[in-house]
Amino acid sequence: MGKNREIPAIAKELAGNEKVRILFVCLGNICRSPAAEGVMRSLVEERGQADRFEIDSAGLYGGHAGELPDRRMRIHAFQRGYNLTHHSRPVRSSDYDDFDLIVAMDHSNYDRLRGFAPTLEDERKVVRMIDFVRGFPQCDCVPDPYYEGAEGFELVLDLLEDGCRNMLDVLTL
Ligand code: 4NP
Repeated sequence: MGKNREIPAIAKELAGNEKVRILFVCLGNICRSPAAEGVMRSLVEERGQADRFEIDSAGLYGGHAGELPDRRMRIHAFQRGYNLTHHSRPVRSSDYDDFDLIVAMDHSNYDRLRGFAPTLEDERKVVRMIDFVRGFPQCDCVPDPYYEGAEGFELVLDLLEDGCRNMLDVLTL
């Protein structure tokens, strides 16, 4: 584990639930969070657990609403076998009722999602993706690749594959 990372208690508490609903959130909902959704969908299918999970993604900035993921993200993901078909949508207040775990890609996403939470119980649902990542000790979040080159998109996918695998391990204990 990288320094200062800890599996959030709420994730462990969900391990026995019949159904687990996960919402991945980033800023634009066109790069990181739809990729996280695609990676997690593929993992739960691979493990024969698709029926137990509800998986979605959303963005804190609504300017890309309705759009498919960024073309660069789709290409890098496709090269690893993920077909990203999500259409961007903004986070809405009902998401706090509709999901058990709200997974933020960076610290700004995390702070804003915690701040918007209607209740303290809802605030506890908000966790950081990086807390599930075991490798990459140099990273303290899943960094925004929008203004980066190919290596930025590859790093995002590396972090998401690592983090989603461990998140699913915790949730299926
Ligand atoms: P994402 O990347 O948050 O990973 O989807 C971004 C996409 C678009 C913008 C910022 C980040 N934007 O400012 O338009």
